[in-house]
Amino acid sequence: MKPRILVTREVFDETLAYLAQHCEVEPNQADVPLDAQTLAQRMQDKDGVVCALTDRIDDALLARSTRLKVVANIAVGYNNIDLAACTARGVMATNTPGVLDDSTADLAWTLMLAAARRLTEAEAYIRAGNWRGWHLKQLLGVDVHHATLGILGMGRIGQVIARRASGFDMPVIYHNRTRLSAAIEERLRARYVSKDDLLAQSDFLVLQVPYSPQTHHLIGADELKRMKPTAILINSTRGGVIDDRALIQALRHGTIRAAGLDVFEGEPKLDPGFLELRNVVLSPHIGSSTEATRRAMAMTAARNAVAALTGATPPNLLNPEAVGKT
Ligand code: DGY
Repeated sequence: MKPRILVTREVFDETLAYLAQHCEVEPNQADVPLDAQTLAQRMQDKDGVVCALTDRIDDALLARSTRLKVVANIAVGYNNIDLAACTARGVMATNTPGVLDDSTADLAWTLMLAAARRLTEAEAYIRAGNWRGWHLKQLLGVDVHHATLGILGMGRIGQVIARRASGFDMPVIYHNRTRLSAAIEERLRARYVSKDDLLAQSDFLVLQVPYSPQTHHLIGADELKRMKPTAILINSTRGGVIDDRALIQALRHGTIRAAGLDVFEGEPKLDPGFLELRNVVLSPHIGSSTEATRRAMAMTAARNAVAALTGATPPNLLNPEAVGKT
């Protein structure tokens, strides 16, 4: 008997084909998001689940999924999974680190450049038929080159963002829970500073910390006040790291210059205040969304799931303590 696996969202054909070699697969190619009740019903008889950040995998769900051995998230972030509960119940949890670093870093840069050069405003202006011709003070932006790039959270993606800064002749400063080695700092040409100095000195501040109770509202009214009035804030990590209401006030009153946001508190709902602002560039959580990267993420999750269900150690196991618990 092959192990049974649920795939909660639409994936690529090759992902399903690979899973089908090893498992009996229940797909969801119609991509109808599964509510908690439906998810629990579908998971009841499954040995594994390939899921997405839109699925909440909590202890109540795990308690009802008595056969479950693995939760394979199609994402590097895993704040949608109660990892401690997985471990306590002997369920392996996995994510997809590495394959999305470059694409996500590119999107952070896209937001930086777009916010600095007012790209979405400029495009809206053309599309509205308002362009009457060139003039000297038209849609004045700010320079990205030679500005100071600050990175809060210098993990893998933060480091890729830093690497790209040398092409723009930007000094890089960063703050992280753990300071990088001198060799890595030298390679990235990045200087470690306190969080206060990062806030005070960054022209562009990019957030790359994972979301957790510790990083909830890491940037709120207080932090925004400590930034330069000319600063541009970028978030392509997780909603909730910024207090969105405080950011809207800051953008409205010129506490900071602009923002570029790919993620939001309570997404896909969005605080309507953002839509009234011209100094914010918005995108719908597409940081990793290139065809190659999303294919690689789905295959990585599938490989993790199959490894767990065939007695191997998944390459991206988050909770080794879960192994052999059941
Ligand atoms: C991740 O991998 O955490 C991304 O946010 C998914 O797009």
